Order: sequence, then C-alpha cells, then structure tokens
Amino acid sequence: MTAIEIKPGIWWIGVNVRSHDLFEGLWPIPHGVSLNSYLVKGEKTAIIDLVREWSGSSRNLLTQLHSTGIAPQDVDYVILNHLEPDHTEFVQNFRRIAPQAVIISTPKGIEMTKHFFGITEGLKAVEDGEQLDLGGGKRLLFVHTPFVHWPETMMTYELTTKVLFSCDAFGGFGALKGILFDDQVQESDWAFYYDEMLRYYANIVANFSRMVLRAIDKLAGTEVSVIAPSHGLVWRKNPGEVVAYYKKFAEYPTGKAEKGITLLWSSMYGNTKIATDAVMRGIAREQVPMEVFEVPLADESYILASVFKNKGVVVGAPTYETKLFPPMAHVLDSIMRKNMTNKKVFRYGSYGWSGGAQREFDAIAQTLKWEQFTPLEFQGAPTLEDLHKAEELAAAFARSIREEG
Ligand SMILES: Cc1cc2nc3c(=O)[nH]c(=O)nc-3n(C[C@H](O)[C@H](O)[C@H](O)COP(=O)(O)O)c2cc1C
Ligand SMILES: [Fe+2]
Ligand SMILES: [Fe+2]
Repeated sequence: MTAIEIKPGIWWIGVNVRSHDLFEGLWPIPHGVSLNSYLVKGEKTAIIDLVREWSGSSRNLLTQLHSTGIAPQDVDYVILNHLEPDHTEFVQNFRRIAPQAVIISTPKGIEMTKHFFGITEGLKAVEDGEQLDLGGGKRLLFVHTPFVHWPETMMTYELTTKVLFSCDAFGGFGALKGILFDDQVQESDWAFYYDEMLRYYANIVANFSRMVLRAIDKLAGTEVSVIAPSHGLVWRKNPGEVVAYYKKFAEYPTGKAEKGITLLWSSMYGNTKIATDAVMRGIAREQVPMEVFEVPLADESYILASVFKNKGVVVGAPTYETKLFPPMAHVLDSIMRKNMTNKKVFRYGSYGWSGGAQREFDAIAQTLKWEQFTPLEFQGAPTLEDLHKAEELAAAFARSIREEG
C-alpha cells in the first residue's frame, strides 16, 4: 500500500484493520476499523497518531511511510493526540527504530506516555493553543479537547492547509472499502459508513457528548478544509457534514432523538414472546420505524446504537427471581452506563406468581429520566384480552413517538 496524499505535504499513512478481535475488548468489528495515521512534511516532519500492534498494522504503517520516501529516521516528531492504545501502542517500537523523534502530546498525554509505554525522554508537552512551526509552510496548532475521548485528548490543526486532525471525534467503525475520502463513497455504501459511525459514537463516544458539543463550539470560528479523524472517512468535500452528524448524535441524550422505536425482548418459555407479536403489530400499524433485538442473542454493541438513536424504547421481559430477566437487566445496565437519558419507554412482560420485574424497571427508568408509558404485565400466558391490550398500548406508544415535538 502506498500513502495517500491529502494536501501537498500531507499524507494518510494509516491502516485498515480487518481483524475479528473485539475493539476495546468489547465491541465487535465484523467490518474492521481504520486506524488513521498522518504524515505532515515541512522542513521538519511529523507523524500524527500511530497505530495499535494489530493484524500487521505497524508493518503496514511503515510500508506507507516508506512509499513517501521518508524513513523513520527522518521523522522529527510523533504527535499523540490521544493516548488510547489504538493510536499509540506502536510508539514503544517506533521509539526503538526512530529514537530521534520527539513525542508531543498534552501534559496529561505525556504523563500517560510514561505510564503506558515506559518512555521518559524525548517528550514534549504542548499547551492549548501552542504552535509548532515545521518550516516549509507547515505550522501545527494544538487544540486541547479534553474527554473527546479521554482527558488528555487534543486535536492538531495545520494552519496553512487548514486540515484538522480531529482524533476520535468525527470517526467511525468500519475499515475503508478501497477509498479514503467522503467524495469517493459510492451511493450504495453511504448507509454502511453512516451506520458504522453511529455505532462507533454510541459505543465509544456517547458518554462524552457534552464535551463533543464543547469541542465543536471551540472550533466554530476555525476555517477547516479537511477533517482527518483517527478512524473512518476523511472529509474533504464537505467537512461540515460530519460535524453536523456528530452534533446531532451529541444531542440525542438531551431528548432530541429520532422518531423511531427500539424493541428489546426476551422470553424464557414463550409467554412474553407471544405478547411481542402483538406489540409489534401495534407499532407497525402506526408506521413508526422499529428495530427489534432479541436479548440475550443480539450483540449489545448494535442494541446500544439503536437505543441511542431512537426516542422510543420498548422492553419486553419476564420476571426472574423477583427481578428483571437477568440478560435484559444486563442490557439495561449497559444503557445506563452510557447515560442514554430522556427516552420514552414502554415495558411489558409475563410473571408467574407475584412479579417484581416492573419494580426494577421503574428504578432504571427514573435514573435515566425515561418517561414511562403504562406498562402491561400478565400472569403466565397472555389471554386474548392481554394481547389486545398489548397491541393497543403499543400503538398508542408509537403514536406518541410519531407525534414527538
Ligand atoms: C428461574 C425462574 C425464576 C422465576 N422467578 C419469578 C419470580 O421471582 N416472580 C414471579 O412472579 N415469577 C417468576 N418466574 C416465573 C416467570 O416469570 C413466568 O414463568 C413467566 O411466564 C415467564 O415468561 P416467559 O415465558 O416470557 O419467559 C420465574 C421463572 C423462572 C424460570
Ligand atoms: Fe479513543
Ligand atoms: Fe480511537
């Protein structure tokens, strides 16, 4: 693979990881992920973000670097916008082959470099707003953007070409399918890149939405020609588009989510399952978009993306040992950990003797500021009357989602 030129003197030297490892040991990446490293060449040379040692990625990065005619020994600076190992793990070995390259990060990032990689020399901390002149018309400006995604995170902006190296902000899952830029995406692939960006946001960034909005505000007066994030597409045709997507995502937890419903259901012996059909009928009748996941079979990564996006959440789950069916409780716990607040919710489910699931659900709904619709519980198998109620309640719930402000 050869490096891809983004602007004169600026190249993508990243790698598309196609691995079946879980990202962060947690999130499936069946379509891979790109680790975007960049090379900026003035009189001096800087690499912005490295890669994790993953599926041959460091070798790939070195091959890309070689294709630009620049040897590791010619690199003056390695800029670490963020210390998460998906962008930094290779720094330990890179230091061995290029000991002259000074590592640049925020003061917190430099501390982390010591603790994560045992590197104590050749480090330079940069303050918010500090500049580094590479000569040859390349000047880098460092913009601290704490907690997008870790506390030490910053972005790097090249002042002449106006390229913003935004790190995890504006990124997405999914290895790039033979392209790099937004204007190269085939019409039929847009849904793939969009869905993988939303899933990445919901899984990785969701908890930092307030800081994402703060970073977008901070950059508001900055003219940007290209957004070059550390994962996913590079946006040169319309950088404003990805900023708008991220702004929209960041506002979902405030209640401004999509008028759609995520239906999560589980059943031990089929009683809640029978009611699930009736619930689906009610929602379908109202023509409200619906995404359905069976718990625990569906992967939480995809469930979280759907719940994050949609205003409406329907939870079908029976009582188990006086509480919610455990795998559903687990999914709701993950939703709580990601602070997916301000939803409208409807729960239904079967119980055998005195129930208890609803009590646990009430507490979760309260914690997450979820507006709860009248729940439906039935003992054992649902009667025809229960099924009728399930359909009508679901339809009324769907209408309330459709008529959201
Ligand atoms: C392991 C286990 C624990 C249960 N614990 C309770 C309970 O604490 N309270 C209750 O009312 N029903 C309890 N039940 C009964 C179920 O809630 C009941 O069978 C229900 O109809 C299951 O719905 P499903 O067929 O959708 O799984 C329990 C059932 C099982 C298998
Ligand atoms: Fe990160
Ligand atoms: Fe990352």
